[in-house]
Amino acid sequence: MAESHVLQTLLVYFFQLAWPFFGVEARGSVVVQRWEDIQAIMRSAEDGSWKPLPLRTPRMSFKMLLDALLPKKGSRNYFAVNVGAREGLFHDPVYPLFADGYGGLAIEADPQWYETLTANLAEVNSSKAVFIVKEKAQPYTMKEVLDRFQTPLDFDCLKIDIDSIDLPILQSILQTGYSPKMFMIEVNYDFPPPFQFALEFDLECKAKFSEGTFGASPDAIFREASLRGYSLVAFEAMDPESETVYHEHNMWFVRNDLLGRSAHDPAVTWRGMVRMYWAQFAMLPCLHVGFYLSTGKWMCPKHQIREIFTELGGNHTSWPLAKMSHYLSQRAARSMFYLSSWRHQLERRGCTKACRISVAVTRTD
Ligand SMILES: *[C@@H]1O[C@H](CO)[C@@H](O)[C@H](O)[C@H]1NC(C)=O
Ligand SMILES: *[C@@H]1O[C@H](CO)[C@@H](O)[C@H](O)[C@H]1NC(C)=O
Repeated sequence: MAESHVLQTLLVYFFQLAWPFFGVEARGSVVVQRWEDIQAIMRSAEDGSWKPLPLRTPRMSFKMLLDALLPKKGSRNYFAVNVGAREGLFHDPVYPLFADGYGGLAIEADPQWYETLTANLAEVNSSKAVFIVKEKAQPYTMKEVLDRFQTPLDFDCLKIDIDSIDLPILQSILQTGYSPKMFMIEVNYDFPPPFQFALEFDLECKAKFSEGTFGASPDAIFREASLRGYSLVAFEAMDPESETVYHEHNMWFVRNDLLGRSAHDPAVTWRGMVRMYWAQFAMLPCLHVGFYLSTGKWMCPKHQIREIFTELGGNHTSWPLAKMSHYLSQRAARSMFYLSSWRHQLERRGCTKACRISVAVTRTD
């Protein structure tokens, strides 16, 4: 125990000190931003094996996806919805669309951004159809907000990045008749597959995202998106050109029909998602969840996967991480024990009493 404590501490320092070098590393890694190359990653994730995928860093944009998948102008409606717009510009995939003549909504709840948001978007309002919605995004009012601005049911692009109830907001949009052609959603990557973790909506809940209680895990988002007829196209973990290289943590999805597939036939299966997840996130430290428990143990679900694998009887320590995720999903009931204890910790220290975190473990045969 003491030894592993020291090791964990060293690892933390290693990541903190080594981070600038990872940055250099990321800058040197193969950045992938053409649709053909993104598709190549999706295809290799579906080759039926559990092998680690080659290290490639997707850099995504709505423009790239639109140009590749909807090249004909008539196939678009030039409407985008930005939930969690902040100042509307920095690292924002919707801004280039507005700058290109798109109309749409920028929804933002925090008044500290209003002045810059208003100024930034006034500059790219050539469509005269960009509107700022100064409201808190809530599941029960999303439909009313979209209806109010005559949002087309199949609007082109959706972005959700609110550091809190991102998944309930996505659900409220997809379950009330809207089906955007593609969407980007921020993800809490500290929880690896097969763990489904999501902060639920409650008006009284105040969650500290800096303590890890925010958003939803990749597996929880993947499940919702798959049920609604979307294919995962990429995890975006880093922006190699940014000062803070690990600024991005997004999942990108495209509606299945745009990929020539039926609603129930996503291009990337659960196995592919798991492999794409580990390819992007294995080497990153926990973003927010990592902290010491009162037992002296370090809590970072992503880095505990090997330990859990071993505790559940796994003895092939050379297995790829994706295969370990799969092993855990075959023992979902026992894996649930770990997820429950993480939830307990987060409910104790990461949010107020009203907060609800929903958890589940993906089961496979
Ligand atoms: C864009 O133009 C429309 C029409 O003039 C206006 O109602 C709207 O407030 C403008 N949006 C922004 C962000 O300036
Ligand atoms: C490792 O696990 C396999 C089953 O997956 C089992 O047959 C084997 O005996 C185990 N080896 C050890 C050293 O526990």
